[in-house]
Amino acid sequence: MDNNKFYITTPIYYPSGNWHIGHCYTTVVCDALARFNRMLKKDVFFLTGTDEHGQKIEKKASEQGLSPIEFINPLVDGLKEIWKELDISYDKFIRTTDDYHVEAVQSIFKQLYDKGEIYKSEYEGWYCTPCESFWTESQLVDGKCPDCGRPVQKGKEESYFFRLSKYADRILKLYEDNPEFLQPKSRVNEMVNNFIKPGLQDLCVSRTTINWGIPVTFDEKHTVYVWVDALTNYITALGYGTSHDELYKKYWPADVQMVGKEIVRFHTIIWPAILMALGVEMPKKVYGHGWLLIGGDKLSKSKGEKIKTEITDPKELVDRYGCDALRYFLLREIPFGNDGVYTNESLLKRINGDLSNDLGNLVSRTTAMINQYFGGVLPYYTELTALDKEVIDLLNGTLAKVKEQIELIDVPTALSEIFKLIQRANKYIDETEPWKISKDEAMRDRLKTVMYVLSECIRVSAILLKPFITKAPDKILAFYGIDGEKEITFDNAYFGVLKEGISVTKATPVFPRIDVNKEIAEIEKMMAERAKANKKEEKKEEKKEEKPVEQISIDEFFKTQLKVAIVKTCEDVEKSNKLYKLTLDLGDEERTVASGLKKYYKPEELIGKKVILVANLKPAKLCGVVSEGMILCAEHGDKVVLISPESDMPAGSVVG
Ligand code: MSP
Repeated sequence: MDNNKFYITTPIYYPSGNWHIGHCYTTVVCDALARFNRMLKKDVFFLTGTDEHGQKIEKKASEQGLSPIEFINPLVDGLKEIWKELDISYDKFIRTTDDYHVEAVQSIFKQLYDKGEIYKSEYEGWYCTPCESFWTESQLVDGKCPDCGRPVQKGKEESYFFRLSKYADRILKLYEDNPEFLQPKSRVNEMVNNFIKPGLQDLCVSRTTINWGIPVTFDEKHTVYVWVDALTNYITALGYGTSHDELYKKYWPADVQMVGKEIVRFHTIIWPAILMALGVEMPKKVYGHGWLLIGGDKLSKSKGEKIKTEITDPKELVDRYGCDALRYFLLREIPFGNDGVYTNESLLKRINGDLSNDLGNLVSRTTAMINQYFGGVLPYYTELTALDKEVIDLLNGTLAKVKEQIELIDVPTALSEIFKLIQRANKYIDETEPWKISKDEAMRDRLKTVMYVLSECIRVSAILLKPFITKAPDKILAFYGIDGEKEITFDNAYFGVLKEGISVTKATPVFPRIDVNKEIAEIEKMMAERAKANKKEEKKEEKKEEKPVEQISIDEFFKTQLKVAIVKTCEDVEKSNKLYKLTLDLGDEERTVASGLKKYYKPEELIGKKVILVANLKPAKLCGVVSEGMILCAEHGDKVVLISPESDMPAGSVVG
């Protein structure tokens, strides 16, 4: 077994149009662990991705008039964008719609079927006819469909089942023989008492009513249902089951599989059972972390009404406070394994307290003093006092302490070890009182030593912080003329590396202090305005929906003259971000029409197209174009498509 490799995985994310700070937690923690292990010179493989199949996606996509993949693609791009903003250093991003995954899942399903681990039977559940969905008793909400709230009927569906029940004893033994397998330990009792001891049921692993899934190759009316599709991503991403399985051979078993507490059950009961059935080695560790609870609605101080006051959009937070601040907050605030609470205020406190006050101040005070007392040239140390030695011992011992905590996957404690060094260094400034000794020529050597010890504390802290906050360490080291790219390595995380005589620049603030009251007031105002705008928007939508459709007589309808027309030219209307100026051929005449198609069609897609024109509209001037009619389109959500004659009809044909 290769002890020098480190394979770490996040769960694969359901595509969402509303990525929030809570979603970032698992991945930021995994990123810190991946980066730390890279700095330990391990061969790291860090996997993340998206979980893209299932009924919910199918439904949401069709509500928007899109195909599932059209619906998913922008959401996945959005997630990747967030990972970029947060400096997530994944090695692979798997999508369960990727061809290689689809093929591997099909082959795994077949393999399990051939081995007798999967069998065909009937699934009994509660059926919601409008949603075409089966639900288990526990999924129902007040006895009704959890999706649409309508009544459900008992029904049966043909399904394939995985023999999960037979693995109960082997899973218990897995926990007993490998106390490291499931962490934190409290989660073991939860699994044993709540799920395994009451008895495991065989698991439904295919559906005939869900189209948006991976087809079962030997029974095409079935699609693979959640478990075998999603969980297997951890091995299919490495090429398991294909002829290109070098990565699988190299990296499996996973060293750490990080998951939120609500999906521990799937990862420590179902996943091991599937692996056992396949004859594949178990992951070494599954870690079930707690949740980041988002602060609830608050009473707005200015308006006296309840509004959502927390900014939860990761991109917005990075824009406001930077990637380091958000990463640091996520890694530091939640006691590992437990839940933590996010509010604007708790984030600002971390920024001001730890990053600005402790770290930022240490850097600015020290570099300012080196400039003031030594003209920006780093002095060297001479004699070391007991006090210096105490600080240096702490400095030299911090890497080992951080390492120990990272092995336990206790990231917040690892960070607090680094901050103990930073805080100790700040206290050392107060104890040594450089502003006093600088006045005494006889204390010149002492002053030199103090400046050197402080600079080393800064340098080593910056190195140790690099896996956690990725930008500030380089910035800090640059004040010492150090190239972070080359010199941030744990080999340098000990006292005495800085060279005498190097130039030290007076630091600009690394984490400028934020005026919390002012900031909170500004956020509250902004959020209240947003709430107001949303309400307005909702009301508008409601009105649109509510407006009763007026009935008209056939005579009234025939007042409208509809004609087939061919688009001859299409010009941009520069003044407008919606309009094109089109010339239309109506057989015996030509018309100019301004049409709001810019967002939906390129000019070349329109030219030559047959469209339906409302030909007897009164001309109207739109952005300087006199429009002689209107082209018919179908609209659904954000989607707009032209209406065309179903087969060829000459220009000028009357529609009606
Ligand atoms: N698709 C499944 C996982 C399948 S893995 C084979 C899933 N996706 S998810 O998008 O809902 O969640 C992805 C991760 O984000 C989970 O680890 C989940 O716990 C985490 N979080 C989502 N919201 C969270 C918080 N508010 N706080 C912390 N993490 C939470 O589950």
